Amino acid sequence: MERAKNVSRAAHKMKAFVRFRRTCDDQGEAWAAWFEPAHRVLERTAPFFQRRFTTMRWSILTPDGSAFWDGETLRFGPPASRDMAPAEDEIEAFWKTYYASTFNPARLKVKTMQGEMAKGYWKNLPEAALIPELVASAQVRMEAMVAAPAPDPNARFAKAMARDVHQDRPDAEATPDSLAAVERGVQACRRCPLYRDATQGVCGEGPKSARLMIVGEQPGDQEDLAGRPFVGPAGQVLDRALKEAGIDRSDVYVTNAVKHFKHEPRGKRRLHKTPNAGEVQACRWWLDAERRLIRPKVIVALGATAGLAVLGRKPAVMRERGRPLDLADGATGVLTVHPSYLLRLPDAAARDAARAGFIDDLSAVRRLLA
Ligand code: URA
Repeated sequence: MERAKNVSRAAHKMKAFVRFRRTCDDQGEAWAAWFEPAHRVLERTAPFFQRRFTTMRWSILTPDGSAFWDGETLRFGPPASRDMAPAEDEIEAFWKTYYASTFNPARLKVKTMQGEMAKGYWKNLPEAALIPELVASAQVRMEAMVAAPAPDPNARFAKAMARDVHQDRPDAEATPDSLAAVERGVQACRRCPLYRDATQGVCGEGPKSARLMIVGEQPGDQEDLAGRPFVGPAGQVLDRALKEAGIDRSDVYVTNAVKHFKHEPRGKRRLHKTPNAGEVQACRWWLDAERRLIRPKVIVALGATAGLAVLGRKPAVMRERGRPLDLADGATGVLTVHPSYLLRLPDAAARDAARAGFIDDLSAVRRLLA
């Protein structure tokens, strides 16, 4: 039973990992691949390649035997050796460039990747040569992505925004003079199209007398349903870090740069999408109102989107984090990473280090408040 499963897995891997290289013989273009299957699966897998690459002439060379397709007949031959297969061709260079450019460091899951693409297969996969470097640079690229501002809105967005700014919504248009008015205004807001797909607007919460305001990016899936900021997984990371830094969340006014959940459906899930600069700018109306009404001494911005909303400029989160920044309204700003960034880090050591840095930044905030 176990063996049958392993054989079937080896056949599946062979279908996924055979990489042909272009060669030429007296009849013209042909393709050849060297492959080392984990079991003797060449005979049962070759018909798959025959169906898939019917119009090509190809050979698959393995240590157990070879398969040849000439466009009409599938034949099997003796075992081969690696040096009988052609060396890297120019198409391989294109493939590597494509693979590297589609590699998303934010989605890196090393264990899953190695489960799918067991290391034994790497030596014959051209793209595998790139993997150690891509994995090693993933954290740096992730940090750069976290620190980068959202792109400017495109023309379609600007048009939708113009269509959606209704003048006949007094709650949404009047300058709010209380947190209750902010709440009403956010629920009536049409300043950008994000209200359309969200369950509700999510305003800040916390005491009006709070000396510390924490600004996140936007409500997530759970916040959108609950109508309260930072109650999901990122909220739990934030709560724990605040506690370790000696800050009581019940003393803090916690809010977001953008008040509606931006997402796209993926099956039954709603996947977070980063708000763009136009959406952040539209929602600053509400954040600025919260700032005027609360008048906090210190404002912490979690991540690049919050930094953009609080500072009114593109922040360099990793360079500027943890130190006091003068804000136009007299408050002191402090930039740090977003707690979701800690949740996305692939390995425990990187997560621990990033968490320690996050707690250090929040401890510096506690000292500023003292
Ligand atoms: N992430 C945020 O930025 N804000 C929330 O409220 C929840 C998750």
